Order: sequence, then structure tokens, then C-alpha cells
Amino acid sequence: MSQIALTGIKPTGTPHLGNYLGAVLPGLELARRDDTQAFYFIADYHALTGTHDRAAMLHDTYEVAAFWLAFGLDPEQTVFYRQSDVPEIFELSWILACFSPKGFMNKAHAYKAAVDKNLAAGEPDDAGVSMGLYTYPVLMAADILGVDASLVPVGRDQIQHVEIARDIAQRINHLYGDGTLRLPQAHVRDQTAIVPGLDGRKMSKSYGNGIPCFLAPKKLRKTVMRIKSDSTPPEEPKDPDSSLIFGIHRALLDPEREAELAAEYRAGISWGGAKQLLYEELERHLAEPRERYEALMADPAHLDELLLAGAERARAVTRPVLQRVREALGVAR
Ligand code: TRP
Repeated sequence: MSQIALTGIKPTGTPHLGNYLGAVLPGLELARRDDTQAFYFIADYHALTGTHDRAAMLHDTYEVAAFWLAFGLDPEQTVFYRQSDVPEIFELSWILACFSPKGFMNKAHAYKAAVDKNLAAGEPDDAGVSMGLYTYPVLMAADILGVDASLVPVGRDQIQHVEIARDIAQRINHLYGDGTLRLPQAHVRDQTAIVPGLDGRKMSKSYGNGIPCFLAPKKLRKTVMRIKSDSTPPEEPKDPDSSLIFGIHRALLDPEREAELAAEYRAGISWGGAKQLLYEELERHLAEPRERYEALMADPAHLDELLLAGAERARAVTRPVLQRVREALGVAR
């Protein structure tokens, strides 16, 4: 086993097709590699920076756990857990905070986004900003450094946070010795896997333009039928590259099928027909996982058990890492 890959998944709102194609598929592929031990966890304490609703927190946590499991995450192979079940992360987080320049936090993406939003709304810079949000990157660094992760798969918006983790680790290693913390590397997800959302922008929870993966078939079909097209008559050739329906559909196809579908568009396909094809393709991908998802969501006690077992395995790694760091710092014998 040569590398440890770790990523956190924030439980905030219903996961969509973009999450499946952009994060779950590549994540599962990485987790199956012989040379990699994957640690994937639900970042509930990160979500707490924004979610202050008990029912939503519980529901979103189960939802995102069931989502990954439904698509085939194997909890035997991957260490899969709730962040809040691993106390060493939070102890390490304090240690790291003592080596994190405050100026880093001022520039961190999650905090800056909140400030920009405030300024745009004419509010004071820090309106509604909690210390939790402000130190978000420190907790994220603890997630990563706490398991000696070397590889951190993330979307573009998270690269800076991984670099902060690396920088904090370097500072500590410089003072206490190179073996104190392992330096992580961001592994940026493939941009070609980005799926457009229902409004043509990148599919994203924050834009509210996603296609949820586990809608009932009828609702899924309705959602697909609402995708915008134009008034080109049915028999007229369609340009696949400017069609949003095609843009979403192609993300589900291998290059050969994609070329065939493009040819069908150019030969003249009705928009209704194109949407029907997309709906059928979605059903091919989603029908089985949807069944598994529903069974998992119906049994939260089983999900709890599974996540707790994962946390025990995570702690077998985080305990010695924390002890090593404490000893290096002189706060433990
Ligand atoms: N901040 C990440 C996000 O919003 C989630 C996350 C928390 C994470 N801890 C992490 C990602 C550690 C990678 C590694 O998507």
C-alpha cells in the first residue's frame, strides 16, 4: 500500500448528477486501486459552519452516506466515517491552529466568499461569519494530516485549502522535524467531467440547478422534459454542441456512443425525442442505485453502525498520528 487518499464530503443538500459523475465515480475508481487506501468521510462538522438545523444535519448526513454506498462504495475496502466520530481530528485541529497564520485564514476561499457576499449586500464584512467558518481550513488540514494522507481528491475550489494544509504541515516539520507530518498533495478532479446544470451553468448545489439522482422515475422524466431547448422544428438538424440536453447526455456516454448520438442530432431529432433518450440513459445509470439508496435510507440505524465501524478504523490511524505529533511538540511524554 503506497498511498493514502482522503476526501471529505460536506453533507449539505441533496446530491445530484454532477456529484455522481464528478466526485463519486472517480472517487470509487481511486478507492479500488491496489496501491491506494482510501479514507472518505462525511464532513459534518464542516457543515455545521452553515447548517444550524438538527433535522437537516441528520438527514443530509444519512443522505450523502447512502448516496456513496448506493453507487458502490465498499465500506470494507474504504474507511468510511463521520468526521464527528473521530475526536483526534479536533484535538489536532487546535494544534494546527497554533501554527496557522491568521493572515492565511483572511485569504481562505470559504471565508472570502462569505465576505464578498456580505459586501455585495451592503453588510459589514464579517456579518454572520462564525469562528468555525473562519477557521474552516484548519479543521480541513486536521482531516488530512490526521491520517497521513498523501493524496487529496478535490474540486478546483478546494485546492487552496489543501495548500494551506500543506503549508501548515511544512511549518511544523520545519520546527520539529520532517517526519512530524506527512505533506499532502491536492489531486484536482478532471474538468471534462463537469456536467452542465439545468440552467447551462456548472451543475452545483449552490446554483440549485442540479438533477437529483434519486428522483422517482416520473419526477425524473418531468425534470428532463423541462430542460430548455429552442423552437427548431423536429425534423431539422440540431447542433449537439450548443444543446444543453446533449451537454448533459454526453457526460453519461463513452466516446463511441457520444459520436453516435451527435450524429442523431445532426440528422434531425425532435427535442422531445432527445429528452426521452436522455431520460432513458439516466434510468439505465440510476435505477439500481436508486433501489439501494432507498433501502439504505429506510434503515438509518444500519448506516450509523456502518459509519461508526469506519470511525473505529480511522481512529486506529489518527490515534498514533496525534500521539506522534504531541510527542514532537513536547506536550506529551
Ligand atoms: N471543504 C470540502 C468541501 O467543501 C470538504 C472537506 C472537508 C474536505 N474536509 C476535507 C475535502 C478534507 C478534502 C479533504 O468540499
